[in-house]
Order: sequence, then structure tokens, then C-alpha cells
Amino acid sequence: MTGGLAYTLSSLALGDSSGFWLPSEASTTAPKVDWVFFFILAVSTVFFAVTLFVLLSFIIKYRRRAGVAPSPSAAHNTKLELAWSIIPGGLMLVMFYLGVTTYIDMRTPPEDALEVRVTGQKWSWSFTYPNGHTDPNLHVPVNQPVRLVMTSEDVIHSFFVPDFRLKMDVVPGRYTKAWFTATATGDYQVLCTEYCGTKHSEMLAKVIVHEPGGFETWLKESGNVLAHMSPVEAGKYLYEAQGCKACHSVDGSPGIGPSWKGVFGHQARFADGTSAKADENYLRESIVDPQAKVVAGFGPVMPTYQGKLKDGEITAIIDYIKSLK
Ligand code: CUA
Repeated sequence: MTGGLAYTLSSLALGDSSGFWLPSEASTTAPKVDWVFFFILAVSTVFFAVTLFVLLSFIIKYRRRAGVAPSPSAAHNTKLELAWSIIPGGLMLVMFYLGVTTYIDMRTPPEDALEVRVTGQKWSWSFTYPNGHTDPNLHVPVNQPVRLVMTSEDVIHSFFVPDFRLKMDVVPGRYTKAWFTATATGDYQVLCTEYCGTKHSEMLAKVIVHEPGGFETWLKESGNVLAHMSPVEAGKYLYEAQGCKACHSVDGSPGIGPSWKGVFGHQARFADGTSAKADENYLRESIVDPQAKVVAGFGPVMPTYQGKLKDGEITAIIDYIKSLK
């Protein structure tokens, strides 16, 4: 308690960002949010201590004693009443001012912000950049404002980067927005903070903050990232980037959809009682028209990837499935 208070006060005095009880401060917003938090915590702690001290000393000082008649209580004290109204009132106005200005700052992205589209789905994130590239991680340049335009494919998720003090719900059927400027290079954890089903806790991604120039290089190469990979590697990359892994395991474990392990070449049984050998054409049809043949025991829930994947990408995914013996 005393250690915590000392730290709080030193944080206030020094603008400390060592991240002792909070994550590191890696965005322009983080120190402002922490300042408001520590200010309110310090004020609350001081008044808690003062109130408790007065309470305890009065209990002792005015306790009932044999032979001492109780003194009459004071009915009114204008100075005291003014003091305990004006001082807390002023402190609350300071808290309100700090809170509102910080909130407005958090909700107003600068004009020159880089825009990245964020899609949440059970249970992965994907990030689409101005050049059309989609990635399972959020890559950004250091010291540049980034604006996120976010939506969900299914249920409500919430995009949370503790080191940036950034949290915003991601809602199906509408766009929510958030922005930040990262102030230190490195990798930061992205979490989902809205309970969204079985694998909510595995709905993770990274923010990768690049050094000056590094982001531009990454973005240029990302445009044809698949060209540098073998088809199987490219298929594995798409499996993660396009959210296939949310429903399909690659190790035979059960999921929303059939596991991809050993699926190629086996006799698939369908909900309507028919069956067929799982070859390339069957896999392709399952990707572009998932409802054409629904595997027995699974619901018709998969969305089509027609238009989302290029032909070469579909082939790469099929090659990856074939590699999963
Ligand atoms: Cu998405 Cu929890």
C-alpha cells in the first residue's frame, strides 16, 4: 500500500513509464490516460487517509468516559461546510476536465493518419492495408498516427492493445473507429476483450511497430508476400490470415468445421446422405460455394470465399490441405 502510494506519487511527479503496475506506455495516449488514472487514485488515497484518521481520532477523543458529561454537538459551521464543498468540487472539476480533454483527444484522429481496416471474426483478427494486402498482424510505422476502421463478421468483439491504452468494440453491421500513435518500436499484444465464444481467449494478434522506413519496406514486400513462398507455405499463411483456422484445425482436433488433417483423398459424407471423394474440385467448391456439399455432422455456417480469394490463393490453400496427411 505505502509502496504503491509512493510509486503513484513518484509517477505523478516524474511522469514515470517503467510500467510497474501498468503495461508499458507505448502510444501518445498512454501517458495521458495514466495521468488521469494516477491523479484520481492519488486524490482518492489522500482523502481516504484523511477521513480515516479523523474518524479514528474522534472515536478515541470523544469516547464515552465515566464521570464526563457529553458536550453538546455543534449545530452548524459555515467555514467547515464551505471547505468540504468547495475543495472536493474543485477537484472533481479538475478530474472532469482531464477526463474530457483526454477522451476527446482519443476520439479525434489527426487528418494525416494512416488508415488500416480491421476485421474481427470468431476467433481471429485481420488487418487490410491501403495497398489491399491482408495480414494477421497489425503493422504500423513508429511516430505516425494510425486510424483503425473496424467491423466484425459475426458477433461483437473488442480490440484491445494494453500498451497503447486502446480499447474499442468491434460490432457486426457497422464501423467503429479508433486511432493511436505508437511511440516505441517492438511487438505489442492485441487481445479480444468481449467474450465471443469458445476460443475468445485465443483471439490474439500482434501490433508490430516498425522503425522509420521499415513499415514502407514491409508494405511494399507484403503486396507480393505470397510470391516468395512455396504454394504450401502460402496456403498455410492464408489459412491464418483469412481466418480459416478459426473453424478448421490442422491436427484432427474437432472444430466448427471439419479438420483439414487427412481430408484430401478421403471419402467425404454429406448431410444429405450422399458422399464423394475429396479431390481438388471438391475442395475448391467447398471454398467458393460452401453450402453445395455440407459434411455430415456440421452446420451450413461457412461463408463463401468467392471474391475474397484469388484463384492462385485458392490453389495454394488446396495445396496446403493436401500436405496435411
Ligand atoms: Cu472476439 Cu472475444
